[in-house]
Amino acid sequence: MHRLPGLPDQVTIYEVGPRDGLQNEAAIVPVDVKAEFVERLVDAGLTTIETTSFVHPTWVPQLADAAELLTRVERRPGIRYPVLVPNERGLDRALEHGVTEIAIFASATETFAQRNLNRTVDSQFAMFAPVVSRALASGVRVRAYVSMCFGDPWEGPVPVERVVEVGTRLLDLGCFELSLGDTIGVGTPGHARALIEAFPGGPSSLAVHFHDTYGQALANTLEALRCGVTVVDAAAGGIGGCPYAESATGNLATEDLVWMLHGLGIETGVDLESLVATSAWLARRLGRPSPSAVVRALSKEL
Ligand code: HMG
Ligand code: MG
Repeated sequence: MHRLPGLPDQVTIYEVGPRDGLQNEAAIVPVDVKAEFVERLVDAGLTTIETTSFVHPTWVPQLADAAELLTRVERRPGIRYPVLVPNERGLDRALEHGVTEIAIFASATETFAQRNLNRTVDSQFAMFAPVVSRALASGVRVRAYVSMCFGDPWEGPVPVERVVEVGTRLLDLGCFELSLGDTIGVGTPGHARALIEAFPGGPSSLAVHFHDTYGQALANTLEALRCGVTVVDAAAGGIGGCPYAESATGNLATEDLVWMLHGLGIETGVDLESLVATSAWLARRLGRPSPSAVVRALSKEL
């Protein structure tokens, strides 16, 4: 283990495998497999697991079983099980199932706001505002995402100022954390630094969410840590993508992240061997190998 200066001692991994990882799978994954996936992630030491989405079921059929999944997952003390919620209907469904943390998701660009939420950039806030106020009044914590923070497949490069404007409006609604989404994985480390440094409130309420389409996710994450970010989104096995942005491939693989962090002497609480075994197990159920380099390297040894 070799440390580098200017990095945190500890990083919180916000695991998105069951939600971002599975939402794009064409074949419906049985709810029992999803529940076992979540349980195995907890057993592997992950403490924050974005479990599913209460979005419109015809928009994301893969997660139409959200309510059933929540009845099957044993919610253990000390573990966070946030779910994605776009609107008040989604919040009602989440509250009915005893959810205590939600995540709303906004777009920095007009095209993606339309395609993903059927809203304009401006009108998405009218949808989110009552969700956040009602959630907070019910004692539910709210995280927010901004998508297309670096580039957009239809509009091209996205100006930093536009992301800061959207992100700041979300934080001002009362969200405790803002996750900066590189939905299509085009960002590079200098751009990541410029974006993080442009937020007037500093990095303490920021998280990063890199898809790995162009192989930049780990380099971008390292730069984000150097900037003071300590919450990193990742999906076990590197699965994932967004059904409303074709160029969105898998998320940063949790195993690749953990390998780098442990190599740097940064604590995560994750048992890498157990996590790799989980991703190898899921890959067999999904019928294809994991895109994670670390899973491929280590699963041969298990
Ligand atoms: P809409 O069609 O505008 O909805 O969709 P609406 O408000 O007009 O309602 C139409 C009907 O849908 C109504 O039913 C509602 O009750 C129902 P009716 O009265 O006609 O019978 N409805 C719902 N039913 C169940 N659950 C709900 C719900 N909402 C409305 N929550 C909406 C607007 C936001 C609902 C839709 O666009 C949607 O569900 N979008 C979700 C898309 C999505 O999940 N994308 C993937 C996640 S985002 C992502 O992956 C990016 C991220 O990872 C970060 C990154 O990588 O950048 C987070
Ligand atoms: Mg994503």
